[in-house]
Amino acid sequence: MYTKNIYKFKDTDFKFLKDGIQFDDGMPNIPWPRRWLTDVSSMLTDDAKDWLRKVGIGPGRENDSSRIFETKPNYACNIHNDGSYNSGELTFYNRWSINYVWGGCRNGDMVWFKELPELTKEYFKENTTLGHKPQIYDPSKLIEIERNNFIGGLALVRIDIPHQVINHDPEFSRWCISIRTGVIKDASWEDSVDYFKEHLNIN
Ligand SMILES: [Fe+2]
Repeated sequence: MYTKNIYKFKDTDFKFLKDGIQFDDGMPNIPWPRRWLTDVSSMLTDDAKDWLRKVGIGPGRENDSSRIFETKPNYACNIHNDGSYNSGELTFYNRWSINYVWGGCRNGDMVWFKELPELTKEYFKENTTLGHKPQIYDPSKLIEIERNNFIGGLALVRIDIPHQVINHDPEFSRWCISIRTGVIKDASWEDSVDYFKEHLNIN
């Protein structure tokens, strides 16, 4: 029913981040390129918080499991999913994220992949990092299925299948705040799109 892995939000002509936030300084202790935010809320404008309420993210939920990514110029992150292993099972906090992207990157992609049939559970167990780190894929075991030049604005993106961010810009970073909340935490990707659908450009 929902065949894409990214849907842009409609009616997002408002300022999302407050002025004057220094994203390079004072960040929590997770090294580049992945940094966890403990207080996304303090970075958002009132308009942004109002918008999050409107699309279905309850008051205060913007801090739940949100994080920030900086993808440096001419850099591609590993192909990964955003799950983690708990008691030997791959689990996901969310299968979706509301991503706000900014930073001046003029050419960048978010790319999604399908696993080749021979990719087995055993492959994961032997090749992934345990704990809360993302599961990293061998590119030779994957087929690209979708690519979107997502370099600005707000979109619902799928994070439970292999994906990658590529910044082709030689000069500017691609910054992304990823808002992940306990709202519809256990929903499939399709049910998640359905939850937000009235606010999304579906076609
Ligand atoms: Fe990811």
